Amino acid sequence: MDKIIENIPAHVGIIMDGNGRWATARGKKRSFGHKVGSENVERIAEHAFNSGVKTLSLFAFSSENWSRPKEEVDELMRLLNVYLKKFIGKIKKNDVRIRVMGDFSVLSDSVKNSIKKATEATKDNTFGTINIALNYGGRQEIVKAVKEIIEDGEDVSVESISRHLYTADLGEPDLIIRTGGELRISNFMLFQSAYSELYFTDVLWPDFNEEEFDKALLSFSKRKRRFGGV
Ligand code: IPE
Ligand code: IPE
Ligand code: MG
Repeated sequence: MDKIIENIPAHVGIIMDGNGRWATARGKKRSFGHKVGSENVERIAEHAFNSGVKTLSLFAFSSENWSRPKEEVDELMRLLNVYLKKFIGKIKKNDVRIRVMGDFSVLSDSVKNSIKKATEATKDNTFGTINIALNYGGRQEIVKAVKEIIEDGEDVSVESISRHLYTADLGEPDLIIRTGGELRISNFMLFQSAYSELYFTDVLWPDFNEEEFDKALLSFSKRKRRFGGV
């Protein structure tokens, strides 16, 4: 019954948008959407890795999301912490590596501790990598990279910037999916997405299931990537 999809992207980025609208449409608080959305991560990650994807970069909290009401921000941080802790509990079973990219300096000690534990404990896992963008902004990441390059006295170049990005060893996303209907990038992986294929869907993140993921893979498989050539 499974369709065979050729040309699977090695690295997929997902802008997991639409949790708030999903909950509001059900007469629930936005936080409920975040809870259901966070539970969807495991299902999509498992399906992606089983399909042959090696790296999933997931936009969980942007540098700009602090402008939301404190109650919502607190709930998002709490859920991220729960997710990371749950992950630490079953590391041995799933062989998935956890990475987190973003500015951790302003995160709570508890979240910082969970990030440290989850990344340390899974660093040798090989089945797939989940790279979580947390307090992440693509512009901020480029500025960080350039500052480091100048401090090190290196030449500023595309190559040196790439080497100073959080994703230096993870490479660039072949495909970026955005759920929730908005047709924008919202500061996600700006430098890395120069030649990424983009896939937008109106499906809200809590409703984005295996079948929807396969639609994105199928769309990708039909694209002709030219990277500026003919
Ligand atoms: C995405 O869902 C999750 C985060 C940005 C943290 P939203 O919370 O943006 O949901 P909508 O876009 O308001 O529906
Ligand atoms: C992008 O969604 C960030 C995440 C999915 C974490 P937003 O909901 O914050 O983006 P905008 O505000 O619609 O651009
Ligand atoms: Mg949104």
